[in-house]
Amino acid sequence: MEKIRDAILSGDLSAVGGLDVPDHYRAVTVHADEVEMFAGLPTPDKDPRKSLHVEDVATPELGPGEALVAVMASAINYNTVWTSIFEPLDTFGFLRRYGKTSELAKRHDLPYHVVGSDLAGVVLRTGPGVGAWKPGDEVVAHCLSVELEHPDGHNDTMLDPEQRIWGFETNFGGLAELALVKSNQLMPKPAHLTWEEAASPGLVNSTAYRQLVSSNGAAMKQGDTVLIWGASGGLGSYATQFALNGGATPVCVVSSPAKAEICRRMGAELIIDRSAEDYKFWSDENTQNPREWKRLGAKIRELTGGEDPDIVFEHPGRETFGASVYVTKRGGTIVTCASTSGFMHQYDNRYLWMHLKRIVGSHFANYREASEANRLIAKGKIHPTLSKVYPMEETGQAAYDVHRNAHQGKVGVLCLAPSEGLGVRDEEMRAKHINAINNFRGV
Ligand SMILES: NC(=O)c1ccc[n+]([C@@H]2O[C@H](COP(=O)([O-])OP(=O)(O)OC[C@H]3O[C@@H](n4cnc5c(N)ncnc54)[C@H](OP(=O)(O)O)[C@@H]3O)[C@@H](O)[C@H]2O)c1
Repeated sequence: MEKIRDAILSGDLSAVGGLDVPDHYRAVTVHADEVEMFAGLPTPDKDPRKSLHVEDVATPELGPGEALVAVMASAINYNTVWTSIFEPLDTFGFLRRYGKTSELAKRHDLPYHVVGSDLAGVVLRTGPGVGAWKPGDEVVAHCLSVELEHPDGHNDTMLDPEQRIWGFETNFGGLAELALVKSNQLMPKPAHLTWEEAASPGLVNSTAYRQLVSSNGAAMKQGDTVLIWGASGGLGSYATQFALNGGATPVCVVSSPAKAEICRRMGAELIIDRSAEDYKFWSDENTQNPREWKRLGAKIRELTGGEDPDIVFEHPGRETFGASVYVTKRGGTIVTCASTSGFMHQYDNRYLWMHLKRIVGSHFANYREASEANRLIAKGKIHPTLSKVYPMEETGQAAYDVHRNAHQGKVGVLCLAPSEGLGVRDEEMRAKHINAINNFRGV
């Protein structure tokens, strides 16, 4: 592994394909025999530092259409938090089911799960049938794994019945020194970014792009008002940038003055601090308080000069969904990709049907959408939102920060990269965007 790292660090990328692939590598894992370790504990007390291990695992065999990537850096996504606390399900069920689908997929069904759905690195080997990529290519990977053997996925690959999220519903993820991906997950690494910056947007940037911008999501247009929950978080920090970049007006909801400041740095002007406002959308576990929905709606109108959101960018779920449906403009769209606070939503349907609103479900992104989102990063139109970087050995702490909502934007993890700041190929472009790239740093 040292030789691979050295070749990449010295820029001798043409040599990478000639180096031996080690038969084992360091990886962040959860263990199948530990899925009950948090049984009975409330969700906030389930500690990823106890369940995430950093250990040597065997290098998987490379199959047709696949690539083995030397991972320089990765990032924490909320799905790694879910995996590490074994909620709502442990991820070994996904691996077992996947393993039954083919001889090749059997490789994924192991008593450990190498997690992680983002990477920036260098292609080491490609399997039979791969023409678009070769060893030595500097890449990032999106996390859509599809088989496309069924007709349903051929208009929009997210509709493939064998659609999976790499590193969550498949094994051999990105929080590791090596990763196994399908070659149609690969995209060029933006040249002006470091390894850890390039690794951080992937999953959330692609998800927010489909959810907000794509015609498969809310199809945001110029002039739209967009209410964004968690506007400085993983998804929200990209949604805020897409709104600004696309001529819309984001109304950013955050929970602290520091997070409000980050939104201002991105260029947002309309910000709601939900902690300061102390919204209580639920009076008790089973009863919502519509007066509080109205109070949020009034605040939005106060900020926008009387306008309601054309789009509400939803992901907190149960806690906010009733309010989101209420505040959306007549004819507007609530677009949701998650339910962090609970998936059994409750809302007053009268406000939905009488005001002709739409609820749209959105999940990750197809290759085209992921690639368009990555292109915006590569062109310096959208920027990484990396706040902090951990070494791989401390991935448990990194996931713990995200679980406790103690982070800003994205949290990075160094894998083969020995330190931050490496991998930049276009210094001139970097200099042009350096302030925006560093917006989330040290907050
Ligand atoms: N379907 C998909 O493809 C997909 C892709 C990515 C993520 N997700 C899911 O989306 C969710 C968010 O992911 P993320 O990466 O953005 O996480 P994140 O970095 O933790 O950001 C989420 C933000 O939402 C806000 N929030 C959390 N709980 C809230 C609540 N009860 N009420 C209001 N706001 C709340 C918080 O911001 P403030 O405290 O500042 O308000 C938090 O920073 C997770 O459940 C994740 O699994 C789904």
